[in-house]
Amino acid sequence: MTRIAVWGFLMAKAKKTPKKRVKTGPKKASKKPVKKVAKKPAKKATKKQAKKATRKPAKKATRKPAKKATKKPAKKATKKPAKKATKKPAKKKLKSVRVQPIKPKATFKLLRRVADVKKYVEEAKKKRKRIALVPTMGALHEGHLSLIREAHRLAHVVLVSVFVNPTQFGPDEDLDRYPRDLAGDRRKIRASGADAIFAPDAGEMYPDGFQTAVDVMDVTRDYCGASRPSHFRGAATVVAKLFNIVRPDIALFGQKDYQQLVTIRRMVRDLNQDVDIIGMPTVREEDGLAMSSRNTHLSPAQRLQATSMFRGLRKAKRLFESGERDAAELAAVVLDLLREERDLEIDYVAVVDPDRMERIPEVERDGIVLAAVRVGDVRLIDNIRLGPTKSRRR
Ligand code: PAJ
Repeated sequence: MTRIAVWGFLMAKAKKTPKKRVKTGPKKASKKPVKKVAKKPAKKATKKQAKKATRKPAKKATRKPAKKATKKPAKKATKKPAKKATKKPAKKKLKSVRVQPIKPKATFKLLRRVADVKKYVEEAKKKRKRIALVPTMGALHEGHLSLIREAHRLAHVVLVSVFVNPTQFGPDEDLDRYPRDLAGDRRKIRASGADAIFAPDAGEMYPDGFQTAVDVMDVTRDYCGASRPSHFRGAATVVAKLFNIVRPDIALFGQKDYQQLVTIRRMVRDLNQDVDIIGMPTVREEDGLAMSSRNTHLSPAQRLQATSMFRGLRKAKRLFESGERDAAELAAVVLDLLREERDLEIDYVAVVDPDRMERIPEVERDGIVLAAVRVGDVRLIDNIRLGPTKSRRR
């Protein structure tokens, strides 16, 4: 309300004064009137003048940054509107809260219990800190660390969870041999600027009698959902629990696990969870292979074959960029490359709508190619975006 009143008042003033004054206005719009307007005539001025002001072009109003102008000579005042104009659209972005280089925190904490995390978060919330959560299953590599570093830039307090979540592994999957290295993870997490690790054991997350699950339906049905039944139910459930425990303002996930990212976004919307989901780009090895904790299980020969997935995806993107829109043609170039590898078993290659996760016959504006393969007994996934890159938030 006060803002509108001030604006209305200034507009009225500008109207009464000759044009010259608008140009040199900043000089004359000294401290006095600004103060007066802010306090007293606010109510009187509101309706009539605000109405007038809304009818007038916004240009004038933006040229009158009264407060700032009092300090600056006319020369500089002319530069200001341009600056404002460029800043406005950025408003929607999540602002960085710090720019200083990352320093490991002396106060860094390893928390093992839900109750300890809740207490820790409560303290931070009292101080009105913005909290970021980076959920992981540990065995951290550069992909995970890129999420933590971005979290450090976007939030005051960064909490990284390290929990190999049993409910997202099928009975024949690699839960037992999933790499675990809490000491190493702890070092890396601290060096990446995080404030705390939450590393519960399975009993802490799933105490006796646990029987609730979050099932995100349509977007989990196909692709990895088809090959790994109940995987996304397990992942969504544990992430929902983490959100309830940590109550983060933002949470960061990798685009490498694209179906997971869409699932979490869907869950957050459907359950009205108050957290911004940030999708982060895939970090790759030099040969293009998407970093994954499971890469450590590949022999050098398997590793070489695994790179064909990204080569295929890149080829599909190039084909798209050269004008190909047919999804079958785009998928075919990936499949052809994968079929050349002897030890590689194709799970799926699909060209889908990036939000609804449904297969599309043609990529009109936007699409994503998803791929999953098995090399030996290691399952690997990757994807590439066709069309414009969307905002990381949505
Ligand atoms: P995990 O595989 O450890 O991955 C943790 C996060 O790191 C996920 O958001 C994942 O997408 C991201 N990530 C993994 N490899 C990446 C890469 N090469 N580049 C960028 N980001 C990458 O995903 C999980 O754990 C679990 O399902 C979890 C969400 C923690 C729930 O248990």
